[in-house]
Amino acid sequence: MISNDMESRMNGQVNMELYSAYFYLALSSRAESGSLRGVSDWFMAKHFEEQAHAMKMYRYLKNQDAEVSLQPVAAPPADDLTVLQMLEATLAHEREVTVAIHGLVDHALAEKDHATSIFLQWFVTEQIEEEATVSEILGRLRLFGDKPEGLLMLDKELSGMAATMAQAGATGPTVAAA
Ligand code: FEO
Repeated sequence: MISNDMESRMNGQVNMELYSAYFYLALSSRAESGSLRGVSDWFMAKHFEEQAHAMKMYRYLKNQDAEVSLQPVAAPPADDLTVLQMLEATLAHEREVTVAIHGLVDHALAEKDHATSIFLQWFVTEQIEEEATVSEILGRLRLFGDKPEGLLMLDKELSGMAATMAQAGATGPTVAAA
């Protein structure tokens, strides 16, 4: 059992994770339109990963006999972005998620809600990994700018990473290229 306040905040985070999924789906679509299939697959893998995050929270709420209250998911930005801008937007977004998760942990600790605090530790660790991965990719891309050689190399690398994420179960059945 968790407090009504914690329940409401966790529902807000479910919405943020679903928005993240939506956001990466939009980037995946854009990358595919730009003929960067590896980049597209990587964003698609992130899309499924974010859905899994939302479902992890959903399951926690249900297990705590709390209400799941699904709110509208905002539309992702429709700007036409370069790959560099997509990755910069990804890092900025993940940093916002990190702040939100830390806020939830702060609240759980203030309430002495140990169960939710422990549950959220997984997300704290996950955010460190996500930010580090995106920062590393971004760092390499910045060495090349958006030059074709760099983009093609990155496309290949991200294709490999997407396959690894799929093997780890982060992606759904529809991610595979036709
Ligand atoms: Fe679920 Fe990428 O934060």
